[in-house]
Amino acid sequence: MKISYSKALSLLKAGEPVAIPTETVYGLAGRINSEKAIQKIFQLKKRPLFNPLIVHCFDKPSALSLISKKHSLLEKLLDHFSPGPLTILTEKNKNLSPSITAGKKTVGLRIPKHPLTRRLLKDLKIPLAAPSANPYGKISPVSADHVLSAFKNKVPVLDGGVCEKGLESTILQIDQKSIFLLRPGMITKKDLEVFLHKNKLTYKVSYKKANFQPGSASFHYQPSVPFYIIESTKQRLAKQEILNFLSKKHPKKIIKELKIFSSSQKTSRLIYSQLHEFSKDKKNLIYVQKSKLKKGGLWDAIINRLEKASSKTLQMK
Ligand code: TXA
Ligand code: MG
Repeated sequence: MKISYSKALSLLKAGEPVAIPTETVYGLAGRINSEKAIQKIFQLKKRPLFNPLIVHCFDKPSALSLISKKHSLLEKLLDHFSPGPLTILTEKNKNLSPSITAGKKTVGLRIPKHPLTRRLLKDLKIPLAAPSANPYGKISPVSADHVLSAFKNKVPVLDGGVCEKGLESTILQIDQKSIFLLRPGMITKKDLEVFLHKNKLTYKVSYKKANFQPGSASFHYQPSVPFYIIESTKQRLAKQEILNFLSKKHPKKIIKELKIFSSSQKTSRLIYSQLHEFSKDKKNLIYVQKSKLKKGGLWDAIINRLEKASSKTLQMK
């Protein structure tokens, strides 16, 4: 059910999980010092216990209170990009419960921007651990209604409207020498390079090809109906050609095209809403035409999520 601000505050205080709005996607939040709330988050999501949760902090001092040693790059990144859609993985201190970080030495820190969640963090005076508020492997929610329908009304939601950005935060892992980009997002590689240059810092930014990457499970972000990426050797395919091709394969399906806009910002804001909308009717089949997706910047994050959400890529001549 949707709940008021004061109800959200009192539930969180009592160690209950609450779905909260952020500028990226909705999160399923619990106080970091309530083991009960943390356990409930894993249970509600059916999330494996080895998959750590991001910690949402009100401000820089609150974030720094969770780490083991001073890190000037972390502080500069927070000063420049926060509040905003960035999560930074860095060494945690021993006060933070290992169930939040799934026993890892690092913690993911994020200072979110949504005013309601900022108010909660300020009033609680305690950070909130929160993964995206969707059952494990499903599409992230970008509205309160998405959360309600995904959890069949079982999760209390603080409604903060439709998420402004619509894609999960950029995730970075930092050490003394390098910055690894683990999950592309709104804050792009280019944004990071400009920031480093302005601050006369010599770190290198690279994509990390690790075995365990955030969101690396192959079934991540999937809608509940078939979703295909259409590739072709032709530069432009007529819509009718695609419809003919798909309806031959799936004669009983209603075919929906995922809209890609010329603006990457607009596209990312509307991707999950479209996937949620088209998933409502089991007769639907969704497709996106690969050639409509550009490369670089925010488009890399968009392609990353679409590839994870899609059932497969189909080749057309
Ligand atoms: O925009 C976002 O980041 C949203 C909002 C709610 O803040 N949150 C989000 O959380 O997307 P989640 O749990 O759905 O995705 C975070 C990813 C997960 O794949 C998790 O495994 C990884 O980050 N992660 C979190 N803490 C980590 C850590 N200490 N070490 C490695 N990976 C970590
Ligand atoms: Mg998630």
